[in-house]
Amino acid sequence: MSVVIIGGGNAGLQVADMLRRRGYDQSITLLCEENHLPYQRPPLSKKFLEGALDEVRLTLRPEKFYQDRSIDVKLGTTVTHINRHEKSVLTDGGETLAYEHLVIATGARPRALPGHEGRGDLFFIRTIDDIHHLKAALPGKKSALLVGGGFIGLEAAATLTVLGLKTTVVEAMPSIMPGLVAPELAAFFKSEHEARGTTIIEGVSVSNVDSKPDGGFSAMLSDGRTLEADLVVVGIGVIPNTEIAEAAGISCDRGILVDEYARTQDPFVYAVGDCATGVVTRYEGRTRLESVQNAVSQASVAALSIVGEATPYRDLPWFWSDQYDLKLQMAGLSRGYDQTVLRGTIADRSFSICYFKSGDLIAIDSVNAIKDHMAVKKLLDGNINITPEQCADVETPLKTWV
Ligand code: NAI
Repeated sequence: MSVVIIGGGNAGLQVADMLRRRGYDQSITLLCEENHLPYQRPPLSKKFLEGALDEVRLTLRPEKFYQDRSIDVKLGTTVTHINRHEKSVLTDGGETLAYEHLVIATGARPRALPGHEGRGDLFFIRTIDDIHHLKAALPGKKSALLVGGGFIGLEAAATLTVLGLKTTVVEAMPSIMPGLVAPELAAFFKSEHEARGTTIIEGVSVSNVDSKPDGGFSAMLSDGRTLEADLVVVGIGVIPNTEIAEAAGISCDRGILVDEYARTQDPFVYAVGDCATGVVTRYEGRTRLESVQNAVSQASVAALSIVGEATPYRDLPWFWSDQYDLKLQMAGLSRGYDQTVLRGTIADRSFSICYFKSGDLIAIDSVNAIKDHMAVKKLLDGNINITPEQCADVETPLKTWV
């Protein structure tokens, strides 16, 4: 009996941790492609890039944690092949590891700008090494172009602005954070970034980036404009790492397909975190969620399935993004909403936008309004509905309805 976990991100670590918590006493091997123990990624675009957090504090658990729990961590180890027939995996070092249960937690990698694959002079924000690389390039640089106005582009723009660079964000869709937040929230964040000197260009994509002979870059935009910058950070989304699963005949559809128990179609193979397209029982259809909450929740679900305590994934999705002093917290999935309600006043820089679908509260995005966020999390968790009027009434704390 043994569990092999492919991938040393937060999800992989959580599977190992949860297995031991639930009394699993057989061998656990955690295979990490990176040469770092599992670490937190959220600070990479923020405090770690800024230099306000050192590497030790990024690490989720110290070495002793793994030793105490007999979790065999193999750093710098990539799995090249899964043999489902023999129930084993092959590593790039030529080692074959047998498993009783296999957990695929391979995460996702940044998407390259089309036509610019393999370019080593454009920066990404995904790993500790990406940030070391970017930080090493910063001295003497005065301007940065952020390709993509999602969380990575905006968080990095805020950090690089704090570090003294003149930043420009180019977002292909009509507004930043497209599909993630309501238009009024995107407009608020745009104005906050602009107030600090960032140029935000929306509805235009970066089609080409050339390096100039005398240093720096020249970027061609889809509207024909050219932008110059000393460095370029690409944050245009991620690609789930599904290749070894696909090669092993495991069904994938923009992620490794799993059920609400984190199981693939093979009863001995699970997938968790950014690489998995799963079922969250409270929502229709399958979703691939790229968040810490999902990594932790789905990892627990997989571990419980392995120890014979199968429990469906019911946790409420939630996310956050820190940009300057703005704490954006999101609870629930707002997709398909047909009504929004503003709670509070945007000019106060502390407010929430509540999302409704057919009269039901389905999600909330809060800016510097943690009480609203916490209360709506509890409401959604408890399947308690409130009306748009109750939501808008700032005189009544939302926790009143919990
Ligand atoms: P994203 O998918 O959130 O945003 C990428 C943006 O790039 C999209 O808005 C897209 O329209 C735009 N884009 C695509 N091609 C473009 C082009 N050629 N020119 C200009 N714009 C273009 O992905 P992002 O920001 O790269 O984040 C990567 C991952 O990191 C995601 O999984 C994200 O959820 C995660 N992340 C999560 C955070 C959080 O939860 N707070 C913080 C930072 C990252």
